[in-house]
Amino acid sequence: MLRPRCEITRWPMSSSVRRPGATSGIKGDGRHWLWKGCFMLAIGAAIGSLCAQRAPLAQGVDVERLREVIRCDDCHREIAREWRASGHARAWTNPTYRAFIAENPTSEETCLPCHAPKLILSAGLSAMPELRAAARERGVDCIACHADRDFVMHGPFQTRAPHKTQKDERYRSVRACLPCHGQGRWFNQVDDWKTSRYARLGITCQTCHMPGIERPSVQHWALPDMPKRVTRRHTFLGSRDRDFVRSAASLQMRVENRLAIVSVTNSATGHALPGAGWRAVVLDVVVEDGRGNVTLHRRHSFDLDVHDNRLKPGERRDFRYALPVETGLVKAKLIYKLFYEWPDDKGMVMATREIRF
Ligand code: HEC
Ligand code: HEC
Ligand code: HEC
Ligand code: HEC
Ligand code: HEC
Repeated sequence: MLRPRCEITRWPMSSSVRRPGATSGIKGDGRHWLWKGCFMLAIGAAIGSLCAQRAPLAQGVDVERLREVIRCDDCHREIAREWRASGHARAWTNPTYRAFIAENPTSEETCLPCHAPKLILSAGLSAMPELRAAARERGVDCIACHADRDFVMHGPFQTRAPHKTQKDERYRSVRACLPCHGQGRWFNQVDDWKTSRYARLGITCQTCHMPGIERPSVQHWALPDMPKRVTRRHTFLGSRDRDFVRSAASLQMRVENRLAIVSVTNSATGHALPGAGWRAVVLDVVVEDGRGNVTLHRRHSFDLDVHDNRLKPGERRDFRYALPVETGLVKAKLIYKLFYEWPDDKGMVMATREIRF
């Protein structure tokens, strides 16, 4: 008779599965019978539900289904709270994404791999992820990023946990982001980053998008003495965060010899500005005469739409305008738009400058 390969039943309890030499965050196995018990209950439920389905088990446990039963947020509470508020958690439910798919139903297959991915470790970190069938509404979730086929959690530390863990240096590097953020023309921040000074200085995607914070990576009443580590917030800050976006660029202006010189600098973005394909940054310059009448209005959009004219990391671009009047006011405004087709007044103001002359 075929015996299902329920390998997963072994790992949470058996100390023999722990890698020799793993540094322990948890001292004394006996003290932790309680949370191990809790975890076993969760695993039990998982195995129970999986064992009810003979087909996947005949080929081994279907790790992809475990996301429906194992709740990472029971233990990694703060990380889970941060992730839930991030774009990754909304990758599949995001109304803008749904609207695109509704208009082009056949594109679902080509779009989903990144928006509802299988384990990125099973496709390999240099390949595009594969599309998953189960629980797509969870978007880019914990398991997609951390678990391998044997349900070992890869991460930046040597830890001892109720699940298997493996220290994997790639998680500290851009390789953890490459499967979805290093593809083609539209979904690519990695290529620009590689040639920037950030790469040379070892400033990674995580440095800016997952700010470091010292804390235990687990918050559970039965795990009171977890070590504090320099962990990373799973907020994946992006264009929805006003302060973050405003920090990306700087706007300078000066008036010399009846000339207004406006400079826009990509001062703090580790890749092209704006980072994502359909965003736009707009420079809007207006010159008014002494009575407030507009005598000049110029507008430049930086985007990927037709020609990629976005600002490279560190790049400064100067714009010169001949002032049409002797006295008046020159005003410059930098606007960030989520979609380049939007009218400018729907965007967010990143910076403004004014000079009377
Ligand atoms: C019963 C509690 C518990 C649950 C549930 C749990 N973990 Fe953990 N996990 C831990 C503990 C304890 C550690 C070790 C923490 C430390 O030492 O800092 C850990 C460590 C980790 C690490 C760090 C590994 C490393 O080498 O850096 C990752 C990643 C991780 N867990 C992911 C997950 C994911 C994903 C899930 C859900 C599938 C999950 N965990 C569910 C308790 C749990
Ligand atoms: C988009 C991929 C991605 C997702 C989604 C994700 N993580 Fe992580 N996680 C990472 C990376 C990358 C690191 C290591 C960052 C570093 O050290 O530079 C990390 C680190 C960790 C660590 C080690 C402690 C720390 O903060 O460095 C734990 C524990 C962890 N993640 C748990 C989780 C849990 C639980 C979830 C779901 C709520 C989750 N992760 C979702 C990519 C992800
Ligand atoms: C290679 C992985 C990948 C594929 C394939 C992919 N996306 Fe995305 N998508 C991303 C990433 C990464 C982002 C985050 C911003 C960026 O880099 O453009 C994103 C963001 C989006 C957003 C913006 C959501 C918002 O509100 O800001 C929409 C909409 C979207 N994708 C739709 C699609 C559609 C439609 C397809 C299929 C034609 C698709 N995606 C295919 C990775 C992917
Ligand atoms: C499995 C695919 C995948 C991986 C791996 C991945 N991302 Fe994403 N990421 C996405 C998708 C899809 C979106 C678009 C989500 C949406 O619809 O808004 C996104 C969005 C983002 C955003 C914008 C979030 C927002 O709220 O606007 C940031 C920032 C980001 N990712 C950073 C990272 C970083 C840093 C890493 C590496 C540690 C990483 N991602 C790894 C797929 C991925
Ligand atoms: C020096 C800091 C810094 C580094 C390094 C960095 N970014 Fe960004 N990133 C930003 C800032 C600031 C923004 C917001 C402005 C913009 O759209 O460019 C941003 C925007 C993004 C966006 C678009 C978010 C959205 O919602 O539209 C994605 C996706 C992204 N970054 C991914 C990455 C990835 C992947 C890497 C690593 C290859 C990376 N970033 C490296 C600072 C950084």
